[in-house]
Amino acid sequence: MQLAAILGARLTAVARSSAWGYLRDLGVDDLLDRATTPADAGEGYDVVLDTTGVWSAAATRPILEPEAGVLVSVRPLAADALVGAVARRLPRRVADVVAPSRCRVSAVMTAARSQDLTRLATLVDQGRLRVPLDGSYGWEDAARAHAHAEAQVCGKVVLVRP
Ligand SMILES: NC(=O)c1ccc[n+]([C@@H]2O[C@H](COP(=O)([O-])OP(=O)(O)OC[C@H]3O[C@@H](n4cnc5c(N)ncnc54)[C@H](OP(=O)(O)O)[C@@H]3O)[C@@H](O)[C@H]2O)c1
Repeated sequence: MQLAAILGARLTAVARSSAWGYLRDLGVDDLLDRATTPADAGEGYDVVLDTTGVWSAAATRPILEPEAGVLVSVRPLAADALVGAVARRLPRRVADVVAPSRCRVSAVMTAARSQDLTRLATLVDQGRLRVPLDGSYGWEDAARAHAHAEAQVCGKVVLVRP
């Protein structure tokens, strides 16, 4: 959310209502309850970033900008992503028949790249990117830290080395 806000995006988040204040602080403009499905999320989005991996391409397509809109999923091997990739290589008329409900689908796969981390660290140093903490624990409290992280959190839970 913060990175998209830095890039100038107008942001809508789907989340539990107890996290709305936290998300507004991160730059989110509009909020929808997490019971929201694509069918009631509105329309005209350029990008839908599905961090849960539960929104299908067929259901998301109607809320995306026609042609340019893209669903970005955290499930790189989801059937939607594979169908979209194959359909992009087919002539338009053929793709419309074999995958009529497709939309542009992209997938993210996290990786630790030093150039990305350097860029993020620079944004943090500049005060443009924050790393909100929900809890901080000493080494000896690792079990409590894990229990905390498995509950509903807003931000990171960190272990502090002795
Ligand atoms: N592609 C990759 O590289 C990659 C890397 C890591 C994980 N993943 C995938 O990403 C997904 C999430 O992983 P994670 O480790 O971030 O899980 P996580 O720590 O359990 O976090 C899930 C988050 O999604 C929220 N959430 C769950 N259902 C939601 C819904 N219906 N609407 C809105 N928000 C919802 C939860 O909110 P609450 O706090 O309100 O419960 C929580 O903040 C998994 O499918 C995982 O396999 C992909």
